[in-house]
Amino acid sequence: MPETIETRKSDHLVIAAKESVQRPALSTFDSVRFEPYAIPDLNMDEISCDSDFLGYRLSLPIIISSMSGGIAQADRMNIHLAEAAETIGVAFSLGSMRIALEDHGQAKSFQLRRYAPNIPILSNLGAAQLRGPSGVDSALRCIEIAEADALYIHLNPMQEAVQQGGDRDWRGIVDALTQLCARSPVPVMVKEVGHGIGPSTAKVLSEIGIEWLDVAGSGGTSWAQIEHDRTHGDESIFADWGIDTVTAVTKISELGLPLSLIASGGIRNGLHVAKCLRIGASLAGIAKPLLAPALTSTNNVIDTLRQFEFELRTTMFCTNSGTLRELTRAPLLKDPTRI
Ligand SMILES: Cc1cc2nc3c(=O)[nH]c(=O)nc-3n(C[C@H](O)[C@H](O)[C@H](O)COP(=O)(O)O)c2cc1C
Repeated sequence: MPETIETRKSDHLVIAAKESVQRPALSTFDSVRFEPYAIPDLNMDEISCDSDFLGYRLSLPIIISSMSGGIAQADRMNIHLAEAAETIGVAFSLGSMRIALEDHGQAKSFQLRRYAPNIPILSNLGAAQLRGPSGVDSALRCIEIAEADALYIHLNPMQEAVQQGGDRDWRGIVDALTQLCARSPVPVMVKEVGHGIGPSTAKVLSEIGIEWLDVAGSGGTSWAQIEHDRTHGDESIFADWGIDTVTAVTKISELGLPLSLIASGGIRNGLHVAKCLRIGASLAGIAKPLLAPALTSTNNVIDTLRQFEFELRTTMFCTNSGTLRELTRAPLLKDPTRI
């Protein structure tokens, strides 16, 4: 019997929480090391982590990465995430809204503006859903449903290839994305889901008018492994597929394209956030560390984000960086391009 989208999403929430579907991010983040500055001329409490994004002022350079929506557990989870994002002042991206397009009753799961009136909310749809005569209209509908400030289109060819019944015909995706960019009233941003976007893909996306790219690199949640886990018990040969977050941000930044970068995939603490900003990202995205907290309460999400903030501030204090701009110039001990 073909599985339903609800069953698949529900499985994803359970399996994504397992440590066995997480990849070790440490080695690549370890390739970036700050030179410590032992005489900071700063009061740590006065350090500013403010950052501008989509016309909003964020208190932290963080976006809650897309997770879920359209099933009962995800409804509660999204409210907790939206309330926490509003309280702290970080951006919030919704999970794939395909389910709301197929079943209009599920749209409410993605209507969170009343919980988060003062932060950027991003809607989300898979690139495969852009194909076909009504694909671009469907994507525009996702922006309206969520009253979104931007639309994330996720590129997940590896996940679709290994998923039972996945979308495997991707012809025409670049044309559809080009049309979407031309028609969208808000920025169209592109992300992967944890296997990364490399420089060759980044060049094509920049040429068609994409201005924001979320590398969603390997080193964190592995969707090849999650899909494999649903049908087999062992490790997928594609578990580590892709380009890791540090390499992706470094290599794309070196191209000098008119692209702003979001670093995500394997970001597990505020030191990782600081390192990503230092090597060229404007924001850092976090999914897995917020999954368990979001399934329980708004306060648990707030506590996790506060811990990230403390770790980011500590890094800034110990590199004598009073602002995020100063952090981007903090001296490094290791050159991340020589990984
Ligand atoms: C439970 C779960 C569901 C996800 N669903 C989506 C989704 O619907 N759309 C999407 O673009 N990414 C989705 N992702 C991918 C994340 O946005 C992120 O790119 C990826 O998990 C890597 O970040 P991490 O290592 O911090 O988990 C999901 C991740 C998790 C953990």
